[in-house]
Amino acid sequence: MAKPIVVLTRRWPEAAERRLGELFDVRCNERDEPMGAEELREALQRADAVCPTISDALPAEVLDVPGRRARILANFGVGFNHIDIEAARRIGLVVTNTPDVLTDCTADVAMMLVLMVARRAGEGERQLRRGEWCGWAPTYLLGRKVSGKTLGLVGFGRIGRAVARRARLGFGMQVLFFDPSPAPEEVVQELGARRCATLEELLAAADFVSLHCPGGAANRHLIDARRLDLLRPDAYLINTARGDVVDQQALYHALVSGRLAGAGFDVYEDEPRVPEALCALENVVLLPHLGSATVETRTAMGFQVAENLEAFFSGREPRDRVV
Ligand code: DGY
Repeated sequence: MAKPIVVLTRRWPEAAERRLGELFDVRCNERDEPMGAEELREALQRADAVCPTISDALPAEVLDVPGRRARILANFGVGFNHIDIEAARRIGLVVTNTPDVLTDCTADVAMMLVLMVARRAGEGERQLRRGEWCGWAPTYLLGRKVSGKTLGLVGFGRIGRAVARRARLGFGMQVLFFDPSPAPEEVVQELGARRCATLEELLAAADFVSLHCPGGAANRHLIDARRLDLLRPDAYLINTARGDVVDQQALYHALVSGRLAGAGFDVYEDEPRVPEALCALENVVLLPHLGSATVETRTAMGFQVAENLEAFFSGREPRDRVV
């Protein structure tokens, strides 16, 4: 029997592509650039499965293509705000994602941003590379201490909890969190974490606020000018979640007006575009969406997509089914 045709919209780590190739008739996007709407429509028409990533926009107009052959979108990534989930549900297109395997690496990047922005690591590295470092001095590039401070987590799901664990056990930080969903009591106890009744309460109390909620319409500009105003002037904002959670313009104004000490960002509203105004500020650390970018994690994500597809094509329920 012919193997199902599977289109990868981007190149994956070699081991993951090899694994997928053992199971399916794989067609890779050799250009390894984001596919346009027309190419994505064609992929849905010629393949049994399409494996998109965050760099593919999949609104209803793309998903609902006439003569669609694909029955599953096996997303390479945990976040799926680039896919119109309601449209997929309506037309009976199964969507899966890759939770769990990227939790540790994304949490590591959140802590890296906390440390980099507070200890002015980006700023220092830029000065050194420009040949501007004149040597050690008692007042040179003084940052802020991280250990023992208060970390506020917006979202206490898998990644939020992994950040909490690092912050509490590695840096002796107090952990606050805000999440409308219930949190596992044993984790809350183990980390001595405190639930805040409102987002506003958390914003006003934390030295570092780290975002770990989903993106998409429900949380668009959750952190807007009004909420940025609630942060303490010596606080830092960290975003490894999704760019649209923060109003970038309001963030810029908060940073230049001294309303906020600094920010560490891995995700942006209109990736890969990052406003020049933000790039010109010294008190921000800007990473190019590196959360899950390790060989181990990206390979594991590919294997997880393969498992989801294998289950789907053998008539079983894929483990990570979203719709
Ligand atoms: C994810 O998995 O959601 C990462 O942000 C990459 O898309």
